[in-house]
Amino acid sequence: MSGPSLATSGLGKNFGAFVAVQGLDLKIEGAKCVGFLGPNGAGKTTTLKMLTDMIFPSRGEAFINGLSVRQDRKRALSHAGVLIESPEIYPSLSPTEALEMVAELRGVPRGEQPRRIRTALEEVKMSEWAHQKVGRFSKGMKQRIQIASTLVHDPEVLILDEPSTGLDPRGMAEVRAIVREQRKHGRLIFMSSHILSEVTEVCDEVALIDRGKLLFYDTLTNVTARFNGGNAQVDAVFARPLDPSVVNQAIPHLPGVKAVELLDPKRVRLAVPPGPEDQAQILEGLVALKLGLVSFKESAGALEDVYMQQISRGD
Ligand SMILES: Nc1ncnc2c1ncn2[C@@H]1O[C@H](COP(=O)(O)OP(=O)(O)OP(=O)(O)O)[C@@H](O)[C@H]1O
Ligand SMILES: [Mg+2]
Repeated sequence: MSGPSLATSGLGKNFGAFVAVQGLDLKIEGAKCVGFLGPNGAGKTTTLKMLTDMIFPSRGEAFINGLSVRQDRKRALSHAGVLIESPEIYPSLSPTEALEMVAELRGVPRGEQPRRIRTALEEVKMSEWAHQKVGRFSKGMKQRIQIASTLVHDPEVLILDEPSTGLDPRGMAEVRAIVREQRKHGRLIFMSSHILSEVTEVCDEVALIDRGKLLFYDTLTNVTARFNGGNAQVDAVFARPLDPSVVNQAIPHLPGVKAVELLDPKRVRLAVPPGPEDQAQILEGLVALKLGLVSFKESAGALEDVYMQQISRGD
């Protein structure tokens, strides 16, 4: 098999009579980041636990790199780094000592352990703390060590349950940066999150689950386009307040722009075709208008709109 992959086939879980996850069919391939979204109790953690054989499915199967996590558990999980309800790291250990234990558990050959541990700590930017006691670390630093522990055996697939929840803005930004970096290293990241702006920023694709049922799995661009009349939504931010004539005339007349909404005096949301070529053309058009364009990116609000539209009220 080429490239990392994660798949489920009719995967489901009941707790007594309660159906927590219905028959889930998912096929994710390649080095990318996929955000796994859904309201509280939707079945995200349950799904991630079935994907990593932490709980038995009531039906169906899960595969990591094409290997069944039930039939071929050891080999399948050797390809995965998993962060789901991980216990706290023992406070009197240093990151190096904690990672040595993980490396041992994961079967990393002794001779390779020092190098793998060093690399994992570098990847989470914790090298300089390698020999300090974890007990004195901030929550964000502890979380980075937890992420490092998923990387020690150099897995192709990372399965992370809300990796930045509970962290302050800086801690969240650090986790985002690590996740982005991991994708560049050729890894497939499947990550649950409630933070839609984070998903918009780091993920290429999103899967949305509600009441145990997968509502969709698609690229971020296609998802927002599908629910916005075939258009993607892009937010453009400017250094200076925009003139009404610009908002009503100049920007709407750029080729490809379908609609313009003024969000605040320096910010517009554009409905644009989902293709990168069209978007590049619009970006060039905006720059040529010399309005002091500061940023041009897929709208986090667009994902929130889709999310709100799709999630049924349970009460
Ligand atoms: N061990 C269990 N026994 C009984 N019910 C459970 C068990 N684990 C989960 N559930 C139920 O299954 C449903 C899905 O839970 P799950 O933890 O997967 O949701 P989630 O999407 O991860 O939610 P959150 O966003 O709050 O983390 C919930 O209704 C939960 O109460
Ligand atoms: Mg959960």
